[in-house]
Amino acid sequence: MSFIQLRNVSYKYPIGKRDVLKDINVNVEKGGFYALIGANGSGKTTFCNVLRGFVPHFYKGDLRGDVLIDGKDIREWDMGELAQKIGFVFQNPFTQISGVKDTVFEEIAFGLENLGVAVEVITQKVEEVIGLLGIEYLRDKNPQELSGGQKQRVALASIIVMEPEILVIDEPTSQLDPQGTEEIFKIIELMKHKGKTIILAEHKIELIAEKADKILVFQDGEVVMQGTTEEILTDQRVQEYGAALPQYALLGLEMKRQNWEVDRIPLTEQQAITTVKGLVAAKGGQICHS
Ligand SMILES: Nc1ncnc2c1ncn2[C@@H]1O[C@H](COP(=O)(O)OP(=O)(O)OP(=O)(O)O)[C@@H](O)[C@H]1O
Ligand SMILES: [Mg+2]
Repeated sequence: MSFIQLRNVSYKYPIGKRDVLKDINVNVEKGGFYALIGANGSGKTTFCNVLRGFVPHFYKGDLRGDVLIDGKDIREWDMGELAQKIGFVFQNPFTQISGVKDTVFEEIAFGLENLGVAVEVITQKVEEVIGLLGIEYLRDKNPQELSGGQKQRVALASIIVMEPEILVIDEPTSQLDPQGTEEIFKIIELMKHKGKTIILAEHKIELIAEKADKILVFQDGEVVMQGTTEEILTDQRVQEYGAALPQYALLGLEMKRQNWEVDRIPLTEQQAITTVKGLVAAKGGQICHS
């Protein structure tokens, strides 16, 4: 059985006339890295809220179909237990900061403190995560006074420190520059290598192309495409559904349209180089000056 299963799931917010999730069927395998893509308002955040039990426990609304987390229906999960299993990083980092702690160190420790973990263990774990995210320079700062990007790093740290099995991360890089974004993706990759199951809503398609295993494409509340990263990001329908394709894939598709013998549409820089080398070799290497 899949780790997370959604069967015929539809959802309408309490205030709202229409379904914002429509008949969704998705299986998530343990240890996989799933990216959610799609236009603004297509339902990615709502989907994340279903997984962490916010729907139906907090937003009542109208949830139909079955959501099974590790085999257990979402309605039967105790919210406290579910919160330990699924770490959730909000789209808006300003809502994640507790507002009751004076330093970043205490902020990251907050969740473990609430679980009654021994102080020595908390200290050790918090130090470890601070090192992992490279945010030593923020340790004694007031969380309220951080920039958006710094808040995003602290929000991620405060979830990772809890060691949840599943990480649901909603646009963690919206406030970050390209370098900060790379850093966050590296952390997410590290979490995957530790065996965590990752569900990430993100618009930055070039990074998704490099890192994700599977992709779900959302459009107007429906999952209109799902498959491996390679299957999805070489398919032009993605654009019709309002999401972007990587630049390298667009180039490959256009070359193919112009009858170049591109046997594999590249998604990443490395793959694009391989494609070009293949084309050059096929032409007897004439355009290569050594
Ligand atoms: N609390 C709410 N009550 C009623 N409707 C909502 C609520 N939150 C979101 N919606 C609506 O649900 C739909 C899906 O929104 P959602 O935030 O899930 O999209 P999204 O794909 O995450 O968008 P974005 O890329 O902008 O983050 C939108 O039409 C939105 O207006
Ligand atoms: Mg969203």
